[in-house]
Amino acid sequence: MKKCVLVSGGAGFIGSHVTVELIEAGYDVIVADNMSNCDMTCFEGVKKITGREDIPFIKMDFRDAVATELLFTTNKVDAVIHFAAFKAVGESVSEPLKYYKNNLTSFMNVIESAKAHGCSNILFSSSATVYGEPEKLPVTEETPRQPATSPYGNTKTMCEDILRDCVKAYPEIKGIALRYFNPIGAHPSALIGELPRGIPNNLVPFITQTAVGKRECLSVFGDDYPTPDGTCLRDFIDVVDLAKAHVFAVRRMLEGQMKKDYEIYNIGTGTPLSVMELIKGFEKANNLKLNYKIAPRRTGDISALWADPTLANKELGWKAERRIEDTLAAAWAWEKHLASKE
Ligand code: WQD
Repeated sequence: MKKCVLVSGGAGFIGSHVTVELIEAGYDVIVADNMSNCDMTCFEGVKKITGREDIPFIKMDFRDAVATELLFTTNKVDAVIHFAAFKAVGESVSEPLKYYKNNLTSFMNVIESAKAHGCSNILFSSSATVYGEPEKLPVTEETPRQPATSPYGNTKTMCEDILRDCVKAYPEIKGIALRYFNPIGAHPSALIGELPRGIPNNLVPFITQTAVGKRECLSVFGDDYPTPDGTCLRDFIDVVDLAKAHVFAVRRMLEGQMKKDYEIYNIGTGTPLSVMELIKGFEKANNLKLNYKIAPRRTGDISALWADPTLANKELGWKAERRIEDTLAAAWAWEKHLASKE
């Protein structure tokens, strides 16, 4: 019998890529989303890519404990991958309650119902933001977490703790937290990708929107950091590579291969790239010139963060494979696909 994976927040950027990879790996998938930060574009894209018109989709809000309970009562779920969360760092500073209420309540409801219905495998979508500004680079999973600089970041740390404590207290559940570095790119089909609402906060959507003419000029936030070219260093991870890591992690859970009941993995390439290198890489990969200027630093940015992904390479058998030029070409193809539909 095929195993069934529930993807909460499965209509969003990362959730839709994970849904594709799970289906291609032979899992049944249920997608559930409240559509608060996306439309049906990506879910429709997932159906096209996989050739599957019958993927179950449930429009629901995981803050609603009754609806969450109903989902688990009416479906046999073997594993949950929990994405459903708000993710705008700046907004979380001005509206902390919105973030705490949504991100924490939803996750607790999912764990509670999963546990009650014999679904023992819970995978949480965490973030490298839990490392703050580390003293030593690259960061391993042993690198101490630092107090988060935003309520958004705090919800990631707190959800990790909730999962850790639940796994400890309830022997029937197991958990994996994947700490993503900077997910970028889009599916090579250009049928799914990132759909930022309003002005993008993240670098790559801002780059692609500038290239397509939606934004006039990209601001490079700071060129006076203590890095080789003065711009920040990040670990940019292709979203398809990132999605594949979830398949390896789910399989490890479902096939009883976990060494501990709660495991944490860094999901990154292990190779830092500067903001300026990324811009130049985008220009070269797509044979165009980008309008950009150097601007003051952005409050809250850290100068450098990249992963040591050795543990994920070894234990999950996963490795980032896509070349950065292919990732940046896919991001551009997706932006052009969106523009062609307007
Ligand atoms: C990357 C670099 C900017 C925009 C954030 C969250 C993190 C996460 C991923 C999410 C930085 C620079 C950016 C621009 C720029 N999780 N930049 N001009 O800040 O590393 O991580 O997104 O769900 O929790 O904090 O990513 O893409 O915003 O920025 O120069 O217009 O690009 O200063 O150095 P960040 P980012």
